[in-house]
Parts: sequence; C-alpha cells; structure tokens
Amino acid sequence: MISLNFDFKNALKFVSKAQIEQFQEALDHQFINVRERTGRGNDYLGWTDLPTSIDESLITKIEAAAVRFREKSEVSVVVGIGGSYLGSRAVIDALSPHFNLLRKKKDNPIICYAGNNISEDYLAELMEVLNEKDYTLTVISKSGTTTEPALAFRLLRDHLEAKYGKEESKQRIIAITDKEEGALKQLADEEGYETFVVPDNVGGRYSVLTPVGLLPIAVAGLDIRKLLKGAAEMAEYSEKSSNIKENPVATYAAVRHALYLKGFTTEIMVNYEPALFYFTEWWKQLYGESQGKESKGIFPAGVSNTTDLHSMGQYVQEGLRNLFETVLSVENPSHKLLVPEDAKNLDKLNYLAGKAIHEVNHMAELGTTLAHVDGGVPNLRVTVPAINENTLGQLIYFYEMACAVGGYLLDINPFDQPGVEAYKRNMFALLGKPGFEKETEAMKNRLKSEA
Ligand code: PA5
Repeated sequence: MISLNFDFKNALKFVSKAQIEQFQEALDHQFINVRERTGRGNDYLGWTDLPTSIDESLITKIEAAAVRFREKSEVSVVVGIGGSYLGSRAVIDALSPHFNLLRKKKDNPIICYAGNNISEDYLAELMEVLNEKDYTLTVISKSGTTTEPALAFRLLRDHLEAKYGKEESKQRIIAITDKEEGALKQLADEEGYETFVVPDNVGGRYSVLTPVGLLPIAVAGLDIRKLLKGAAEMAEYSEKSSNIKENPVATYAAVRHALYLKGFTTEIMVNYEPALFYFTEWWKQLYGESQGKESKGIFPAGVSNTTDLHSMGQYVQEGLRNLFETVLSVENPSHKLLVPEDAKNLDKLNYLAGKAIHEVNHMAELGTTLAHVDGGVPNLRVTVPAINENTLGQLIYFYEMACAVGGYLLDINPFDQPGVEAYKRNMFALLGKPGFEKETEAMKNRLKSEA
C-alpha cells in the first residue's frame, strides 16, 4: 500500500477533467512503453525494476562498505555532479539533522560534497576542514571522465594520500563507475580501490536506487532497505494500472501535460520543510534534463516556503501567468513544539499560544495555495504522512515514473541529454584540451571578433 497522495482539485479551474482524461489512451500506451522497454531511449529503462529486483548480495556489500567508511569518518566526501550526487543528497539532507553543530565522535559522519562545481574557494575551504577531520572519499562518475568530479578527485586524492599515506588511502576511497570503461574504472583497478558499478541501463539522474545513491545514504546512517521498500511499494502500485483515476503517477503526468498544453510552461515544486530543499534540486534535474529538449518541456523551478514567500512570492502571485505549482506537503513533523503564551504579548502572537508550529506552517501552506489559485496559478499537491526513508522511496519512484511517461507524452527521449555537451565543447576549446585544436582556434577568432 502507498501512503503518497496526489490531489489536483486546485487545478480544475484551469483545466477540466475531460481535458486531463483525454490523455488516457496515450498514457496506457506510454506505460506499456516503459514497462516493456519499447519506448525511446529504452536502453536506459533499467531503473524501473531497481527497487524490486536489487540483489540481496549487493545490499549487503553496500552496507558492509558503509560500516567500514563510518568507522573511519567524521566526514565523508561524495565527489560527483548531477545524477551522481543529487539523489543521495536529496535523501541525506531530508533525513539528517538541520544542524551538525552538536556532532559527537560516535555519531553519523557528516556528508560533504565536492566535484559539483569548479570553485577554487569551495575546494580550498573543504580541504581546510579535511585537514582537521578523519575522512573518506566516495567518487562517483558513470562516464568516469566528467571534468568537475575528476578535478576535485585529483585534488582530494592527493590530500588524502598526503594525510594518511598511499596504503591507508586505498581503504578510504570507494569508486562508483562503469563496470569496465572510463578513466575512473582504470584508476580504481590500478590502485585497488573498492568499486561499485553504475548499471549500463540506468542513467545518472535515475540512479539514486543504485550504489550511486545507496552507498552515500548508508554511510550517512540511513536505512537503505526502507528506502528501497518504499520505492518498491510505489513500483508495484503503479504497475497495476495506468488509469488516470487510480494511479497517481498517471494522474500527475496527465495533469501537468494538460496544463503545459494550455500554456503553463513553468512548474514550481514548493516545499514548506527546509529539509526538502535538495529533494527539489533532485527533481529539477530529473525533469529539466529529461524533458527539456527539442524546444519542448516544462521548466522545473523550486521554492522553499515560507522563506521564498518573502522573495519569490510576489512573482508567483502576480507575475507572468505561465506558472503552476506542485506542493510537496508533509502531514506530520518529527518533533513537537508549541507556541508559548507570553504575558506581555507585545508581538500579538498569543492567539497562537498552544498551537503547534507545524499547524501554523500548515495554515501558511493552505493560505498560500488559495491565494495563488485566486491569482491564476494552478496548484497540484503531493502529500506524504511524514519525511522518512519509506516515503522518500515512494516519492523517488513516483517522480521517476511520471517523468518517463510524461516525456513520452511529449514525444521526446527522456533518457538522453544531448544539450549538456554544448558547454563542455566550449570549455574544452577555451582550455586548449588536446584534440580540440580546431575548436580552440575558432573560439579565439570568435572572442577576438566580439572584443
Ligand atoms: O543524469 C545524468 O546523466 C547527468 O546528470 C550525469 O549524472 C552527470 O552529468 C554526471 O555524469 P557522470 O556520472 O558520468 O560523471
């Protein structure tokens, strides 16, 4: 049984049930294309049965590696970019304490990230921290050749070897990459690092339920079995039917497609829990990279409320009317905190005394939804009872599946990312990478003519 609920009543002012249900036949077909692996990009549909078919021996190997890393680490650094880190970060940030200031020696290691930018300051400051802390490195790159993680790993490996020596460093590095190809695989084999494989048939942004996501999540002290179980529950549920009236995956895909065709071309994922910030980042990558191509696709944006109601709220309420929102709503917090009574009541908040902070947050959520709907912003709502491994697993599979069938509704391949290469070509030309001589020459001429 799933606990995730999808509600679109606040979109019906903008799009009718008939307009949504007209996609039933197309969706039936696209669900089959995903399940039977007959759709575009079908070489990359391996993620569909990850939660149900993952080997017990792989889970045990991940858990054992995580125990070893946890024993050695006050800090564990995940080196990767895009799909190679956003999934783990989404889950780890959602379930870890907001503040790490009270960490004791025996507590979970703090997970840091590198290789997701090329900032000199970021890397230098990370290494300053690592001078003082015991640490381990998980380097993740499916291709094994991506510039950002390769650069960061080169620096951090040098740092690690200088700190612990070459032999001990081998115990402190795990590489997650292709089973046989790429520079990272070659290096790991030569150096004798423990390795995990990114399956051939799973692309980066769909890889959170492979070792790419599972190892860092386990190192952070979270229960990967519960995460997989939640995802399996959603997979089994959405396997049963592609009916828009029954399967929330089908409903979400159909509603957002209907809104898109009516000119609502930006979807904002809205959360009211700061812990979900990186879940939104993961979702943005999943939908942006999967569906934004061939001059099509909804632009995925994110806001964290109520924080962003004091910044982006103005635009959402009154800006260009091409927006719709999907609220990721959490019914119950993990803590209980009541608003205290105050004798002076100078802030005039005594009318809230005795109420839970979460209730105030919830009323802010409801009030905002109604205001935005009144302002012309259709509102969808995905509700989970609480943030935990099970519900995050359900959410991951829900969004992955809806992204795939939604991509097929757009008639694009949701599993490639040809557009990502353009910046790399220019960067390599500017940096004078061997093999890019012609592009370097052309770039020099272009810059000269534009000067
Ligand atoms: O989803 C994707 O395929 C990308 O975001 C990749 O994960 C990202 O570019 C990193 O690639 P790699 O793992 O090959 O270093």
